[in-house]
Amino acid sequence: MTFRRTAGAEAAAASAWWQRGVIYQIYPRSFADASGDGVGDLRGITGRLAYLAWLGVDAVWISPIYLSPMADFGYDVTDHTAVDPLFGTLADFDALVSEAHRLRLRVLLDYVPNHTSIEHPWFAEARASRDSPRRDWYLWRDPAPDGGPPNNWRSVFGGPAWTLDPSSGQYYYHAYLPVQPDLNWRHPPVREAMLGVLRFWLARGVDGFRVDALRHLLKDPEWRDNPPNPNFRNGMSPYEALLPVYSTDLDDIHEPVAAMRTALREHGDPSDERLLLGELYVPIERLVRYYGRDGRGLQMPANMHLIATDWRPEAIAALVERYEAALPSGAWPNWVLGNHDRSRIATRVGQAQARVAAMLLLTLRGTPTLYYGDELGMTDVPIPPEQIRDPYARRVPDLGVGRDPQRTPMQWSAEAHAGFCPPDTEPWLPVSAGYKHLNVAGQQNDTDGMLTLYRRLLALRRESVALTAGSYETIRADDGILAYARMSGSQRMLVALNLTGTPRTVALSGRVRLSTQLDRQSESANGVLRLRSNEGAVLEPERSA
Ligand code: NOJ
Repeated sequence: MTFRRTAGAEAAAASAWWQRGVIYQIYPRSFADASGDGVGDLRGITGRLAYLAWLGVDAVWISPIYLSPMADFGYDVTDHTAVDPLFGTLADFDALVSEAHRLRLRVLLDYVPNHTSIEHPWFAEARASRDSPRRDWYLWRDPAPDGGPPNNWRSVFGGPAWTLDPSSGQYYYHAYLPVQPDLNWRHPPVREAMLGVLRFWLARGVDGFRVDALRHLLKDPEWRDNPPNPNFRNGMSPYEALLPVYSTDLDDIHEPVAAMRTALREHGDPSDERLLLGELYVPIERLVRYYGRDGRGLQMPANMHLIATDWRPEAIAALVERYEAALPSGAWPNWVLGNHDRSRIATRVGQAQARVAAMLLLTLRGTPTLYYGDELGMTDVPIPPEQIRDPYARRVPDLGVGRDPQRTPMQWSAEAHAGFCPPDTEPWLPVSAGYKHLNVAGQQNDTDGMLTLYRRLLALRRESVALTAGSYETIRADDGILAYARMSGSQRMLVALNLTGTPRTVALSGRVRLSTQLDRQSESANGVLRLRSNEGAVLEPERSA
């Protein structure tokens, strides 16, 4: 058998929790509503931590819980060190952390350094006058000679990225909504204040941060126009009409990133147990630069490429190999299959392939990041126009970019509102119509269900050093089959995934440790492994042990 590429063989042993572990993303508005107002909250999360420990994940990343007018559902912050009353109190947060730690779960917060809410007191002071001592905390420019915006930069959510402040006659910059002004990270007091935010939460015991919108942090000091995107086509988001080369992912961004990492290290954490996971939608070769020189950047730039890659073995293997080849020495990989900004995996590839996708995510080399509800096979929920909440969907209608469908309430049980909130409360987004057949309580008793598959995959991954820390080698990527080996010392696991709806055979031998159908644990393959349609299997060669 010939292997195409070995990756990770030289990598340092996976000794940190965030290398061995699996991260589970909670969108707090949608996870569990303890207060009974139709919106999820911290006490709701705390009450469900035992479920996550039972499932077998190692850490939760909680999307923003800070004081916010909720124009972008918490990604518009008015106070980075206060909990929004909608979610509870700081005491509720402390209780969540201590319960999580009791259950051996780590807690990651969503750090939003790039922008604030327009209602943040800093912005109120900044906009008060051109001479305000806070003026330079945000990005102000004079109008262009024709009175229009200072350059052609666009907002990710549609429209210009500049809004005129009539009282001072200047424009301010916002990568997202006009009510989300960008902070000026080239101004030292901003940097100090925002590093202080990290210190505040570290002192409360958090285990790390997911860093929001990181590629936007620094902008071209000359404010040059972005060039047109030659590949722009009708139907794409208007933001994509330009290549954001002057407004994102600048070369000197690695300096503030290193300052964030230093803030974590200085907080009594020389052993690097506290994690920085950065949100970055950039090409792989740019992504890996965020590990920083000599590993002084992020421990993990989030790798979102699996979300956009064609669901074909050739494309997936090419992605894995390109990524593995690009990783700097000693850098630890990360894989993401879904999040609150992208359509759910079970909708993208279908319910049957979602099982194969789960096996892929949990057997690749690197830390997997799971999105809440994907462990049940939750799908996008169609949202009637009058119930659309997402500001992006409202600003760019008809393009199908809305994010509400993947943010609907977690399906806990067959009770009213899927057990997300009390029966007499309306949840903030509609619950999936199929919740009675697809929920945690039902699947906990279903030996063949998706939840059982996730739990078994998580357990297998945890007990296998080859899966947690081993190298990766592609064995085969063609004819609908993706097969690869994971190896650590003498331990070896083989993974074979049928990405098609018809049966396939693969030339592999070993004992079946897990099938996505959960039914052939005692079987062995002797030179030929038969895979049913939409089936994946993990095999352990007899000589490995
Ligand atoms: C990325 C977040 O994931 C997204 O939900 C949010 O709207 C933007 N950043 C703005 O903070």
